[in-house]
Amino acid sequence: MKNSIEFRDDATIARIREEMDRFSWYHKIDLGSGLVTPGLALENVWDGIRKTRNHLDYKNKHVLDIASFDGMWAFEAERLDAGTVVATDSNFRAYHNFLFCRQVLNSAIIPYYNISPYELSERLLVHFEDIHEAEHPYHNLFQIVQHLGVLYHLRDPLWSLSQTRSVMRKDGHLLLETAVILDDEASYMVFNGVPPAPGRIYEDITTWWAPSLLCLKEMLHASLFEVDEQTITVVPQAENMGRVSLIARAIGPDELPPPYLEELNRTYRNPGLKTENLNR
Ligand SMILES: C[S@@+](CC[C@H](N)C(=O)[O-])C[C@H]1O[C@@H](n2cnc3c(N)ncnc32)[C@H](O)[C@@H]1O
Repeated sequence: MKNSIEFRDDATIARIREEMDRFSWYHKIDLGSGLVTPGLALENVWDGIRKTRNHLDYKNKHVLDIASFDGMWAFEAERLDAGTVVATDSNFRAYHNFLFCRQVLNSAIIPYYNISPYELSERLLVHFEDIHEAEHPYHNLFQIVQHLGVLYHLRDPLWSLSQTRSVMRKDGHLLLETAVILDDEASYMVFNGVPPAPGRIYEDITTWWAPSLLCLKEMLHASLFEVDEQTITVVPQAENMGRVSLIARAIGPDELPPPYLEELNRTYRNPGLKTENLNR
């Protein structure tokens, strides 16, 4: 049984705790027996994601968790009864944490910790094609993709959104969470500055962009997603910025105005979309 916690005696619990305490943690992952990994105090952001996530049914779904880090959202997807869960990241330190939790939880999550959010369609081919002799070789495209806490870390956010859409089934769902400017009237992106400018987004060199809320919705549309307004959760962090969680449906190419689709199909100048996957 996946992600199940067997009976543990006191010696086993003490051994797990000792090993857990040797790592440093980003996530708070429930390992059972009263053990929770000592991650950061980000409950306000995480509760926003969970509120939005309540709109999704994970049962038997094929789920991808991008930039999984210690893996909290992937393990939670598994606990929500997802069918198969895949976790990607390009963070080797976090891989040790992830593997430790995977073993402790008897989890069946499939990790690929050498895949960046820019190259999902190419690097996950091995996953999609593992049943290549079947009638529908792309059956493995994802029904739910979790893109959480990573868009603002990416220099090229549209590339990542296009890649995300390219590994999803049509009518699948994207659960997205990121930093935004709290403006739903005008469409623009704020650049974090070099070095990061105080008062813009975060004073952190791994943060690049925060779109206004309207801009984020438009970027998603340009990447073949339709935002479900009912699912939006906003967590304010400063006067004009904060975090947003939302769910967007993966739309088909026929739902995008034809001139845009034509332009996106010119992947030699707009890289990112794997156009042959969009109708699957
Ligand atoms: C803030 S953590 C978010 C972790 C998790 N998805 C969550 O929401 O709790 C950022 C994650 O994005 C990854 N990341 C950060 N910058 C990145 C970049 N430029 N390219 C690829 N991955 C990046 C990190 O490895 C880390 O897993």
